[in-house]
Amino acid sequence: MAADMHQNLEILYTRQQIAERVAEMGAQITRDLNGEKLVMVGVLKGAAPFLADLARAVNVDATFDFVATSSYGCGQRSSGAVKLIKDLDEPVEGKNVLVVEDILDTGLTLNYISKLVMAHQPRSLSIAALLDKPSRRKMPIQARYIGFTIPDAYVVGYGLDYAERYRNLPDVCVIENPETN
Ligand code: IMP
Repeated sequence: MAADMHQNLEILYTRQQIAERVAEMGAQITRDLNGEKLVMVGVLKGAAPFLADLARAVNVDATFDFVATSSYGCGQRSSGAVKLIKDLDEPVEGKNVLVVEDILDTGLTLNYISKLVMAHQPRSLSIAALLDKPSRRKMPIQARYIGFTIPDAYVVGYGLDYAERYRNLPDVCVIENPETN
C-alpha cells in the first residue's frame, strides 16, 4: 500500500531512510552484545515489521518472543491503563533481552513490559524503539536504541496503525484528520 493513495498522509521517513537507520541500529546492537546471545521480544502488533528487519540486521544468535498489551483501543490517545493480552512464551531468566517496540510515547506500555520482563530475572534488559516522542513521556523510560526522535504528531505505517489501518505502509507517515480518509 503506497502513502500517495491517501491524501492526508505525509511521509516523515521513507522506507530507504528506515532501512539505513535499522541497519545502523543492528550494527550497534551487535557490537554491544559482544558475541552473546539475544532474545528479541516484539510488542504486538506494531513492532512486527521493525522486529523482522532489525532481527536480520543483527549479527548474533537470536530467538524471538512476543508480548501483547492493550491501552489504545481504536482511538488516538492512551487510556492510561495497560493490560497484558499475551505473555512471554519462554523463560528469559539469565538471558539478554531486547524489547522491540514501534514507538515510545507516554512510556506506560514499555514501563509495564520492562517490569514484566525484569520479574523473570534476565541477564540484561534493553529497549529498541524505532520512534521516540519524548515530549509525551509520563514515565521515566528510556530506550537504549532509538531510530528517530519525532515531535508530537500521530504517525502511521511500518507497523503503526490508526484504528488498525495503515500498518502495511512501507514509509512512516504523519496522518492528518484520520477520520476523513
Ligand atoms: P505508550 O504506552 O504511550 O508509550 O504508547 C505506546 C503505544 O502507543 C505504541 O506501541 C503504539 O501502539 C501507540 N502509539 C503511540 N503513539 C502512536 C502514534 O503516533 N501512532 C500509532 N500508534 C501510536
